[in-house]
Amino acid sequence: MKCLMAIETSCDETSAAVVTFEREVKSNIVLSQDVIHAPFGGVVPELASRQHLRNLLPVIKEALNRANVSLEKIDAFAVTQGPGLIGSLLVGVSLAKALAYYYNRPLIGIDHLQAHIESVFLTNSEISFPALALVVSGGHTSLFYLPKRLTYQLLGRTRDDAAGEAFDKIAKFLHLGYPGGPIIEKLAEKGNSKAFIFAVPRMKDNSLDFSFSGLKTAALRYIKENQITASSPQIKDFVASFEAAVVEALLVNLSQAITYYPVESILLCGGVARNQRLRTNFLQLGHERGVKAYLPLPEYCTDNAAMVGALAVEFLKSGSPLPSPLDLEAYARFSATLEEIES
Ligand code: KG4
Ligand code: ZN
Repeated sequence: MKCLMAIETSCDETSAAVVTFEREVKSNIVLSQDVIHAPFGGVVPELASRQHLRNLLPVIKEALNRANVSLEKIDAFAVTQGPGLIGSLLVGVSLAKALAYYYNRPLIGIDHLQAHIESVFLTNSEISFPALALVVSGGHTSLFYLPKRLTYQLLGRTRDDAAGEAFDKIAKFLHLGYPGGPIIEKLAEKGNSKAFIFAVPRMKDNSLDFSFSGLKTAALRYIKENQITASSPQIKDFVASFEAAVVEALLVNLSQAITYYPVESILLCGGVARNQRLRTNFLQLGHERGVKAYLPLPEYCTDNAAMVGALAVEFLKSGSPLPSPLDLEAYARFSATLEEIES
């Protein structure tokens, strides 16, 4: 059975996966660097690059072992090109180029945000178009319109912090630990989400962009005024209220987009899509608006190479021409090929 090896090193997870041309995930190894970055309360780019350099070959070896396949038997390679931390991306891209060149195999460069969207298709093959896809992670908060498979039009993105970044920064400020999202979610479980009032940001000019800096500033003000610390009695109510405000800000925009772009389906993905409040309210929104709502499995929400491999299989099947492996570049910011809709 034909298969490809996918590599993902866009941020602080080193990941490799073996995916068959029938989209079966044979292995998906993800090595987290959380312990390295935790003392700093956020990802330190140079440390992330150095960890990828150390870990990538062992992770690839493990992915091959688990899939019970040797490197010579791999029919194609795929790698995340960007957007992401440039030093981290360069580690993955340079190794993928070397492998594809040495074994004389095709190399498919993959956009990280499109790969996150693909994570939804990994377990939902029946999604109908047009669709809207909300990508919510530590580095990105972006909304896409998908008129058909493999076509992505950017409708809006954050003008400042990403939603996951807002969780990570508030957690850092309160010395709760890193990454902040899952820690805040756990603490918020028993909190009253209505205890603290946050004004949910709204863009003027009908824009579908996001903004989280206002919520972050309001949160910091509450923390100072009420002297909230990790051990104060209000902590659970406070983080529950903050979490609810972030979720509402995300879904208000998505709801607005459903009004502007009548669609059949809505998709939610990215690390923050692990959050249960967001998942529940997203499904509820789909129900209320009469559109089908799709989520990835929790393990495919945070960065992983399986979603990169699955998207690469689709590109191979689509027959689009592939550049020579030697021409592949990494990019830190949005892909130049991405079509942006003026709103
Ligand atoms: O997609 P991802 O692994 O990396 C990027 O592409 O950025 O997302 C990581 C982000 C972090 O900000 C983390 O705090 C957040 O996802 N996150 C969560 C949860 N799990 C991870 N946020 C809220 N609730 C969670 N359960
Ligand atoms: Zn990501």
